[in-house]
Amino acid sequence: MDKIEIIGGKPLNGTVKISGAKNSALPIMAASLLTNKKISISNVPDLLDINSMIQLLRSLNVEIKKSANKIDLQSSIPKSLSASYDLVRKMRASFLILGPLIARYGEASVSLPGGCAIGTRPVNLHLSGLEKMGVSFSINSGYVTGKIKGKLKGAAITLKNISVGATENILMAATIADGKTVINNAAKEPEIIDLSKFLIKMGANIRGYGTKRITIIGRKKLSGCSYKIMPDRIESGTFALCVFGCSGAVKLLNVNKEICSHLKKIFKQLKSLKLIVMNNGKSLLIKKNNNNNISIKIKTEEYPGFPTDLQAQLTSSLLKTKGKSEIIENIFENRFMHISELIRMGACLKLKGSKVIINCSKTLKGAEVMATDLRASSSLIIAGLMANGKTTINRVYHLDRGYENIEKKLQLCGAKIERIKL
Ligand code: EPZ
Repeated sequence: MDKIEIIGGKPLNGTVKISGAKNSALPIMAASLLTNKKISISNVPDLLDINSMIQLLRSLNVEIKKSANKIDLQSSIPKSLSASYDLVRKMRASFLILGPLIARYGEASVSLPGGCAIGTRPVNLHLSGLEKMGVSFSINSGYVTGKIKGKLKGAAITLKNISVGATENILMAATIADGKTVINNAAKEPEIIDLSKFLIKMGANIRGYGTKRITIIGRKKLSGCSYKIMPDRIESGTFALCVFGCSGAVKLLNVNKEICSHLKKIFKQLKSLKLIVMNNGKSLLIKKNNNNNISIKIKTEEYPGFPTDLQAQLTSSLLKTKGKSEIIENIFENRFMHISELIRMGACLKLKGSKVIINCSKTLKGAEVMATDLRASSSLIIAGLMANGKTTINRVYHLDRGYENIEKKLQLCGAKIERIKL
């Protein structure tokens, strides 16, 4: 298991190429199951989660060729319609094959994803939505098996609470169901918009994506297509928070206008962080002036609110500010695994239920810490870059699930960061 070593305390200055969005690439790859025609996807980030999805789809008889950041996929009738626990437990997004498989073949058996470091991660909304479309589910020895007699039927579905994955599973299934499906209280994340644009390129009939009400008219068949994945807004936000924590000036390339306006909106309270949109939104210059008298109150919300996927990174980036800040985590029940590790670095943090309070600017000292989940590991990177002395981060496979070459990108900004291959 590799480690990452950081000698912190330096400002960041340089240019970073943002990779394609993991949380857009994963559902789009799963959607390749909806057709037997060839799909070509570019700007795919080279990540452990992408490799896990490739392994899973290959086990379902999808022929896949991967070169650098491009993937060609072509699905044929699978020998088995079952996705094993071993594959699904590694990555919750594996559950996104359920809707496409049932829509295409009338049956699928997928291991329940199980919990992870940030929460129990139930799938009830996925199942209740597909049940409305005629699927009957049974759960045996950790596997959920869905079956339908004949074709999937379009239906009016209202999600009890907003779920990105449930919206994606139902959306994909509805593209080749019989008749009209309306998803009310749908997730509005940019990744849903990207998936919808991809499905429309395959010939799907979708309206209202990016709003809370999505209408899909099922088609008999979908065709193949080529598609470029959108840039990763969470990687972009992570680098912005690196600059906020360390000071300096970093230019992000390969972003887009939506990401620029989203980051300007969610970081509005960080008064000393300047986000300068350039090149018609394709580049974003991030600068931090030295005013550290910052006190903010932020709660994580569904899009377009402050994303839960940036909560841990925001916590770290505030650790040298002179004010008192509060962050409330509203989406997941246990997304605070990074707090104890940050406290080991001298951070002054208090946890009260779903609220974390940052209340002093003691100097951060480098220490040996352990990554526990994807976004917690990037918050430890930020703290290490801000701290005096050396920080060693263990279990960086968590980081490699969602960040492509992050240490190389930070080295290009002058950071003293090395990967120690063990
Ligand atoms: C997606 O996860 C993202 N993952 C997550 O990013 C992200 O944090 C999350 O959306 C919220 O934005 C991918 O896109 C691959 P949800 P997902 O269904 O779809 C509850 C990262 O770091 N819920 O919107 O699993 C659930 O427990 C990852 O890149 C149910 O109760 O999230 C959570 O509390 C982490 N029943 C809330 O809804 C369900 O059936 C939001 O979950 C489904 C979800």
